[in-house]
Amino acid sequence: MSSSSQLSQNELPKHVAIIMDGNGRWAKQQGRPRVWGHKKGADAVRRSVRFCRELNIPALTLFAFSSENWQRPADEVSSLMQLFKLMLKSEVKNLHKNQVRLRVCGDLSAFSTDLRQQIESAEALTADNQALTLTIAANYGGRWDITQAARQLAMDVAAGHLQPEAIDEQRLGQNIQLADLPELDLLIRTGGDLRISNFLLWQAAYAELWFTPTLWPDFNQQVFSEAIAAYVSRERRFGCTSEQVCALAFRQSKGT
Ligand code: IPE
Ligand code: IPE
Ligand code: MG
Repeated sequence: MSSSSQLSQNELPKHVAIIMDGNGRWAKQQGRPRVWGHKKGADAVRRSVRFCRELNIPALTLFAFSSENWQRPADEVSSLMQLFKLMLKSEVKNLHKNQVRLRVCGDLSAFSTDLRQQIESAEALTADNQALTLTIAANYGGRWDITQAARQLAMDVAAGHLQPEAIDEQRLGQNIQLADLPELDLLIRTGGDLRISNFLLWQAAYAELWFTPTLWPDFNQQVFSEAIAAYVSRERRFGCTSEQVCALAFRQSKGT
């Protein structure tokens, strides 16, 4: 892509999510412990946030820790928790200065009170920022997400606030995480594996998927630009025919 800034804003994705994978393998290549890869991954997070701010992409969601990642060796899990705390502490001011609204999604009940408080105060501080919503998915699983939404609706039914017949996709969708953000447009996975690993199962229904062998600590503006260029070049049909999509685009360009 010559320059992403040449693209008009409505061609760009409004919501990008990234499965930040490959830290362990990157560290291994350097002959260092896995946690070194996670530390270096933090730089790639900063670069990605900066890139989204430059392009005025309004929502970025990063998969930091999955509900399955608890199965890793205890010392790796605790290093990841430490790093998460450290990042919250060191980055929040800068995010706030850059008009970034920080959010954390996932089952936070598994985290220490200390960490939960830290998350709450970072979210509160940045709540009114408008330029970019950065969501960190921590102890997140797509199946957990759909289950918690279903449980919420079941509770509404049990309390007499909701008729079962009133449950439709829209109603369930309102209870799924990130419901207040733009629809997910682009889902990127680094590290070369071609799977979703229980990330945004509901939200990714019509997202464009883009995979790269680049390991997460090496992810930079150039690789991100490649993903955006691929996204922009694709035709999103949402179940329609190519002709219908073209006719709609034509009408929109005429403002009719
Ligand atoms: C992604 O990198 C970070 C987390 C899952 C927390 P990995 O740690 O999965 O790195 P690889 O896939 O083993 O290289
Ligand atoms: C997905 O990576 C989770 C995160 C990036 C946080 P994993 O490394 O856990 O995924 P699998 O195990 O290869 O599917
Ligand atoms: Mg991995």
